[in-house]
Amino acid sequence: MQRTSTKLVTLALAAVAAALFTVHGALAQTTAAAAPPPGDTARGKANFLRYGCYECHGTVGQGNYGSGAKLAPHPPPWTTVSAYVRKPAGNMPSFSEKILPTSDLADIYAYLSSIPAGKAYTQIPILNATTMKPK
Ligand code: HEC
Repeated sequence: MQRTSTKLVTLALAAVAAALFTVHGALAQTTAAAAPPPGDTARGKANFLRYGCYECHGTVGQGNYGSGAKLAPHPPPWTTVSAYVRKPAGNMPSFSEKILPTSDLADIYAYLSSIPAGKAYTQIPILNATTMKPK
């Protein structure tokens, strides 16, 4: 009897350890999938032009009323971008891995992420000076 319960406890501990290991593995995988692969901003800029993204999204990803969403500054997460480019849901053409390899897309993502946000209009003197102010 004593032996059986020791065996049961050992089995239960093994099961808990296995479960923890699996959860840890799944978490690690999620983090890895969400992080963008390393990319080169200069190559990314060239790719953004070469693959024609700029035609609809603007040269600095500013977006274009009616033809392309705003992609920068602050691009959507890598998982969104990498999934959308492969399987767009609206008017955007799709880019398969064969046409646009993931490494080139990672460079594009690095470029989009590097684009700084513009100043707030309140920090641009001429806009402050010329806006109509109540008398
Ligand atoms: C012919 C025009 C066109 C081209 C070329 C194009 N896009 Fe788009 N893209 C769109 C439009 C329009 C949308 C808005 C959703 C839609 O209609 O598909 C969009 C949406 C996106 C989105 C989703 C944005 C979000 O906030 O969810 C991403 C990411 C994106 N484009 C990336 C790219 C990249 C990278 C390239 C180049 C490899 C590219 N697009 C080329 C038109 C274009």
